Order: sequence, then structure tokens, then C-alpha cells
Amino acid sequence: MSEIARIILDGIEYELPVFEGTEGEKAIDISSLRAKSGYITLDSGYKNTGSTKSSITFLDGEKGILHYRGYPIEQLAEKASFLEVSYLLIYGELPNVEQLEWFTKSITMHTLVHEDMRRFFEAFPTGAHPMGILSSMISSLSTFYPESQNPNRPYKDIEKTIHRLIAKMPTLAAQAFKNSQGHPINYPNNKLSYTSNFLHMMYALPSNDYEVDPVVEDALNKLLILHADHEQNCSASTVRIVGSSQANLYSSVSAGIAALWGPLHGGANQEVIEMLETIKADGGGLQKWVDKAKDKTDSFRLMGFGHRVYKNFDPRAKIIKKAADDVLVKLGVDDPVLDIAKQLEEVALKDPYFIERGLYPNVDFYSGIIYRALGIPTDMFTVMFAIGRLPGWIAQWKEMIEAGDPIGRPRQIYTGATARDYVELKNR
Ligand code: CMC
Repeated sequence: MSEIARIILDGIEYELPVFEGTEGEKAIDISSLRAKSGYITLDSGYKNTGSTKSSITFLDGEKGILHYRGYPIEQLAEKASFLEVSYLLIYGELPNVEQLEWFTKSITMHTLVHEDMRRFFEAFPTGAHPMGILSSMISSLSTFYPESQNPNRPYKDIEKTIHRLIAKMPTLAAQAFKNSQGHPINYPNNKLSYTSNFLHMMYALPSNDYEVDPVVEDALNKLLILHADHEQNCSASTVRIVGSSQANLYSSVSAGIAALWGPLHGGANQEVIEMLETIKADGGGLQKWVDKAKDKTDSFRLMGFGHRVYKNFDPRAKIIKKAADDVLVKLGVDDPVLDIAKQLEEVALKDPYFIERGLYPNVDFYSGIIYRALGIPTDMFTVMFAIGRLPGWIAQWKEMIEAGDPIGRPRQIYTGATARDYVELKNR
């Protein structure tokens, strides 16, 4: 690989350093370009801009590869537990037995949320979207732990904030759900595993003896792992950029939840099921919807299709599609929406529009079908994504803080009016 890039601007040649990552990805370091030449680079949506060097997640969009800290997603989804993967992302290595015990115990100790937070739930209107509630609740945690607002606190305190977040996120998510149902909340049961405890808080009622089905627990564990990190996506970049101003971790993650909520990002999982339901209610004819998605005068898109980075296939979607089949069979659920999803995939994947643009089902296309089978309501789907993505956000934030990255602050090219004089109101 060449060690420098040469760029000619206004007849002058500038040399810029070139950087190569451990998996052979190449980048031109343009950080000195403006100082040397007066030019900046322009790249809306950061489609070709690396915002950081990172050693957390590697993905190759062309080959459909996804690794967390070097470990293939297929192996982790098959064999690991969600807390094990969380430890891997945050601390950089898989835990040994003692380390996992220590981590699990610490997380388990922090699952309760302050009783004063119950009053916040009461103030939300009936039917409030749980992503709005979750984002507010996570940000509110910083007011219960004011020491988290100090950017210069000792490492042990930072670690406690990290563990508190992982511990309290499922509690708050389940409370948001219970609130929307008008049911009494369930307190965490610290004898249960992370995923079982979440299911218990979601589904146990005073009138039932809820027992966690191991099929459901396994499926949930897999889904959380598949969502755990995805390098510099919209929400992770949001967490990093908010955190770069030294805003506290709770607020940074709350901003990440808001970014995830959008239908082009994590909110797509809810949109997919709503789209499939609409297609079903419309009689199930698929070509009409594929044609609508291709029509540039129609704003409709096939939700759950396409990805900024994956242009061949999304490895997470492959695993989820198989898991959806397995879970539905094991739970004895017959969901006609799964058949529509499969037929839609078949029609779209034969269509030149989707082939030419590299549009394949992404992680959100089949995840909603599993969530439905597990009894999770549609507006909780993106909350499930947020619980899964939390260790990734934390790992990205921690890496940014430890590297001492400067505050995130892109530049722009101004295209507005040039300098002009103020005109008195009466003369306009
Ligand atoms: N249906 C129809 N056309 C599409 C779709 C789609 N789902 N996705 C992209 N296209 C077209 C788009 O119109 C454009 O066509 P043209 O070149 O003729 O203008 C071309 O494909 C490239 O699309 P883009 O919008 O420039 O690509 P992007 O990288 O900016 O957007 C995306 C990626 C995921 C936002 C987009 O594919 C999309 O909106 N998909 C549907 C929403 C979705 O499923 N989001 C979940 C993403 S995976 C979960 C996560 O990690 O967030």
C-alpha cells in the first residue's frame, strides 16, 4: 500500500498520510488538509467518511462479515450469552469464569430503579410510545446519580455507571411496557438470568405463575447478541458525538435511543411488521408493493430492505431468518405474516431494481416476527433493539473517552446569502 496520498488543488500538490486497519481497510487522513490548502471534504450522510479508528466491531459489507472484537457473529449468536458478549464489547476480551461471575453479580446488584422514577411513568399519557419513555427515563438516571455528571470522576465510578445502565435498562423497558398495559409493575428477580429476569418483569402477573420458556429465553439471547454492536451507525455515532462534549453517559445513551427510534434505523423493525400487516389486509398481492417501492414519485420503501454498508447480504438477517423459523415451530405459532415476508423477499430479490442497488433483507426484516412470537407488542420492538445495542453504545463511548477524542464538530460549506445589511421592518 502507498504510504501517502497526493492530492492536487489549484495546481499545488499536497501529501496526506494513509492509514490501513488490521483488516486491510484503507483511509486517507485528511485532518491536515484544510490547514495546508484551505479545502475541506464534503460527504453528506458521512457515506465515505471514517469518524474514528476503532477496535470494537469489524464489518465487511460486500462479503457480509460481522465480527465483535474479532469473533464472528455466527459463533457468538450460537454459543455465547448476552452478558458474555457485553463484557467482550466493553472490556475487549471474552471473560473467564471469574470475570463473568463478577460482571453478572455486579449487573444483578443494580437492577432496581429508584422508586421516585415510578412517578414519571404516571405522568406519561396512555399509549405513549415506549421509546419516548425509555429515552426520557435513561436521561433521568443522571439526575439520580449526579456524580455521573462529572467527566473527571475516578474509573471505578465510571464502571459503576456502565453496570447500572446495563442493569436498569431492562427494568425500565419492562416498566414502560407494564405502564402501557395498565398493569402493576414487576420488580426484578435477582435469582434469574439477565434475559429471564426481563421476561419475568414483562410477563409475570399477580394472577399467573409465569415461568420462563427456555425456547423464548434462547431466542431473546440470540436477538440481543445480534443487535449488540454495529460500528459507526447513526445511534452509535450519536452516542459518541454527544459524549465527546463530556455530557454524561446516561444522556449520551438517551440520545442514542432517540437516534435509534427513527424508521430508517432501529424503528424499521416496527415498520416492517406494520407494512406486512398492511399487505396482508390488502389481500396479500406483493407486486403492487414492490412496484410502489420502486416508484420514485412514491415515498413508500420496502422496510427491512437495504443497508448503508451491507450490499450483498446482512449476516444478522440470515441468522434471524433461521431463528424465526425455529422459534415459530418450537412455540407452535403459525404466523401468516412470516409467509408474506418470505414471499416478499423472493419477489424483491428477483427484481433488477433491488439486485442493481444491492438491496437485501436487513436485521429488522425478520426480527419483528420473532418478537411477535415471543408475545412482545409491536411498539416495543425498537425497545428490544435498544436493550441489545446498549453494550455497543457503551463500548463506543468508552473507547472514545479513553482515546481522549476531541469534541465532535463537523465543518460545512455555506451556501446561503452573502453579507447584506439589515433592512428596517417598515421598509421590507
Ligand atoms: N426500498 C426501496 N428502495 C430503496 C430502499 C428500500 N428499502 N432502500 C434503498 N433504496 C434505493 C434508494 O431509493 C436509492 O435508489 P436510487 O439510487 O435510485 O436513488 C438506492 O436504493 C440507495 O439508497 P440510499 O437511500 O441512498 O441508501 P442509504 O445507504 O442512504 O440508506 C437505508 C440505507 C437503510 C436507510 C435504506 O436502505 C432504507 O431506507 N431502508 C429501509 C429502512 C430500513 O430497513 N432500515 C433499517 C436498516 S438496518 C437496521 C439498522 O442497523 O439501523
